[in-house]
This record gives sequence, C-alpha cells and structure tokens, in this order.
Amino acid sequence: MSTSKSNKIIITIDGWSSCGKSTLARQLARKLGYVYIDSGAMYRAITLYFLRNHIDWTNKKLVEKALNDIELEFIFNEKLDQSEMFLNGENVEYVIRDMVVAEKVSEIAAIKEVRDFAVAQQRKMGKARGIVMDGRDIGTVVFPKAELKIFMTADNAIRVERRFKELFEKNPNITLEEVQNNLEMRDYIDSNREVSPLRKAKDALVLDNSNITPEEQLKKAMNWVKEIESGKSKVESRK
Ligand code: DC
Repeated sequence: MSTSKSNKIIITIDGWSSCGKSTLARQLARKLGYVYIDSGAMYRAITLYFLRNHIDWTNKKLVEKALNDIELEFIFNEKLDQSEMFLNGENVEYVIRDMVVAEKVSEIAAIKEVRDFAVAQQRKMGKARGIVMDGRDIGTVVFPKAELKIFMTADNAIRVERRFKELFEKNPNITLEEVQNNLEMRDYIDSNREVSPLRKAKDALVLDNSNITPEEQLKKAMNWVKEIESGKSKVESRK
C-alpha cells in the first residue's frame, strides 16, 4: 500500500480490555508505516501520577491543578521498535502496566477533566494522519470521522487467559481470579461511565479474534484498508 502523505488515513480500534487491540494496532502501523498511539497508556500514566502524588481525584480543582503539572509524550524506542510512554520526562512504559495502576485507571479515566486533557492531545497527534490509535472512545469521540473504525471483541475466558499470561511473566504471584475481577471491573466502569463510555461506533467494523491467529486478524484488517483505498468500502461515508 502506498503511504504517501496525501492518502494516509486514520484507523481507530476500540473494544473491551485485553481483546488484542494493541497487537492489531501495532501490526497495522508496522505494515502501513503509520504511527501507533496507545491511548490507554495515557490514562495509565495519569493514574500513576495521581497515585504517586496522592491526588484526591474526587476534587475537581485538585485534578485540574495536577493535570497542569503532567506532560505526556510518546518516544520511539528503536531497539524495541515501538513507542514508549513518558510521564514528565520519565519512561513509565513498564510501570504503568502494573496491577496497582490497572486497579484505579478506569475510575480516573471516567473523570471529565482527565478525558478532556487526554482527548485534546490525541486529536493533535492525529493531525498528520497516518495513525492507528486504540482505546475505548477513539472511533466515537476522538476521531468520529476516521476512515476505518474497528471494534474488537473476544470471548471473556480467552481475554482473561491472554491477560493472565502477560501479567504472570512480570508477577508470578498474580492469580487468574485477580485478573478476571480486574477485567470485569474495568469493562463495567468503561462501558457505564457518563463521559464517553465504551460503545461500538455505528459505522465500526467488528473483529472477533477469539479463534483467529494474529496473522489472520491482520489480513482481515488489511483487506478493509485496501477496500477503503480503492474506494470500494462498504463503510458509509463519514462526512
Ligand atoms: O487499553 P488499556 O487497558 O491500557 O486502558 C486502560 C484504561 O484506560 C481502561 O480501563 C479504560 C481507559 N481508557 C479509556 O477510558 N479510554 C481510552 N481511549 C483508552 C483507555
């Protein structure tokens, strides 16, 4: 596929926790020469800041003040061939994946001021187009006019197992039950919050990856990209 600036598109990937959004987003970004933005990492970094600085996030004034002191940046790590999240100049890519952050992130991501702060930065990142961004509200709120919107889903048990394997590598004390409870809690809060709840955009294409390999999911998504490029997409115009 051509990646000349003029025909670069915006691809959004939303869906439940741990259903493979970031894997697909990375695959697509590599294949297309696009930038991958993990919007969840931004909410995780903000959560880390609030926890470390004992911010009372029920107090709107304190939240606003804290957000003024937060600088988020994605910096590309050539060795790892991926971007990493920096919070006020510190690489926090690893620490934001911790359970301590996972336990609070949905609560903090539900705060309007936090969302306004993150969404404004996400939209700036999309100005140059040629991006794949994953999250919960990317196709509905951040880029409602994106050319390709994907909504990912996978069976609950499969999601829990995938997440467990990932976390167990870092922390062998973690239990399957803990992981399951955390996923259920996050899905509940993410889809029931007042501001920008997790929803499938009307014009999003659903990708259930419960029983397909990463290669198959990439093939499916790339076919959608090609359809859009050739103007044959069945996806309605988003003008
Ligand atoms: O994608 P993730 O699991 O790293 O996201 C962490 C949390 O951040 C998730 O529970 C919900 C929230 N989130 C959000 O509310 N909106 C986004 N666009 C991305 C993530």
